[in-house]
Amino acid sequence: MRNMENKIIPYGRQNITEEDIRVVVETLKSDYLTQGPKVAEFEENFAKYIGSRYAVAVANGTAALHLCALALDIKEGDKVITTPITFAASANCVRYCGGEVVFGDIDPETYLLDINSVRMLLEASPQGTYKGIIPVDFAGNAVNLQQFRELADQYDLWIIEDACHAPGGYFTDTEGNKQHCGNGLFADLAVFSFHPVKHIASGEGGMITTNDEKLYKKLLALRTHGIVKDNNLYSNSIEFAGGHEEYPLWYMEMQTLGYNYRITDFQAALGNSQLLRADEGLVRRRKIAAVYNEAFKGKDYIKGQSGNVEGHAYHLYVLEAEDRLGLYNYLRTKNIFAQIHYIPCHLMPYYRDLGWKEGDLPVSEFYYKHCISLPMYPTLSDEEQQYVIQQIQNYYNE
Ligand SMILES: Cc1ncc(COP(=O)(O)O)c(C=O)c1O
Repeated sequence: MRNMENKIIPYGRQNITEEDIRVVVETLKSDYLTQGPKVAEFEENFAKYIGSRYAVAVANGTAALHLCALALDIKEGDKVITTPITFAASANCVRYCGGEVVFGDIDPETYLLDINSVRMLLEASPQGTYKGIIPVDFAGNAVNLQQFRELADQYDLWIIEDACHAPGGYFTDTEGNKQHCGNGLFADLAVFSFHPVKHIASGEGGMITTNDEKLYKKLLALRTHGIVKDNNLYSNSIEFAGGHEEYPLWYMEMQTLGYNYRITDFQAALGNSQLLRADEGLVRRRKIAAVYNEAFKGKDYIKGQSGNVEGHAYHLYVLEAEDRLGLYNYLRTKNIFAQIHYIPCHLMPYYRDLGWKEGDLPVSEFYYKHCISLPMYPTLSDEEQQYVIQQIQNYYNE
């Protein structure tokens, strides 16, 4: 094995090709910098890739979540259930609108929001207490949304699927069909992020997918200040607008309180270009996962691992390891920058101040003590992966 110790191996990284650069430069030379034809193209291509009817491109995944919360009318005091093993934005979007976040615990095998924990919360309160659920396809492992939809329907809840980790991921429904993350069949809305460590990178960027036309139209307006430009939707009269028989061409209305959450055309051009390689990247990620699975199968220092899960999109490859801190520090001395996903949200000081405490969610808290994300990205070479595996084995004196 070549000397690898001088090269930093991160847990995730983007892959920018010459073609990516070419399309970005081409867009920079075009007439559009902010939202233009590349955004529309990206939305259309992404919806096709995911299998949803509509897609709305936005500035980042957090903006996508915020817009979903607004479109679903989350209000002061509304209770929403999510998982603590996620990036804080999955929960924060509820708080942006004044809602109350209730964390359920995770399933110790999948690390995903445990449907039984959600059911227990729902059964313990009068009907109408909760408004929605935000399941997260954590690490790229697709949540079984068919089961969540059934439960949500019993309690009249909406679902926002946080699919930021999982474009291309899927679960298999009761009929044996592959249901791709974000396809809009089970969740009302789904969100994706194009942050550089994700499957598709656009610098910053996000997408919302849905099959619901009403929500789609709401999202379009909310993305741009709540402004509507459609003769059929105006509230003010033609006379007020300054026209005679029809609204003047300049006319528009700000009908709700929205934001500027637009993505730029050159970011969308990059997203489009990356999307063309998304499947290739998925194949590589799954291959890397299979090699890790094999390397750590049955090892007594491994308490759990992402495993060989069909449909997993492997944004992250997670191990639960003995002496996690020692392993993490040792790997850093070898220039392997593993990462921890995630410090449970409910124990972040902000959520502690809202009343959450240690012991509230024991499975998540146990998971946090052991989890470590190993390098996982399509350009990780076989040689680099073998070096990572070797160093982990060295640490445990194998
Ligand atoms: C699960 C999850 N949700 C939401 C987000 C927010 O996405 P962004 O960083 O694009 O705002 C992230 C990004 O890190 C994420 O991992």
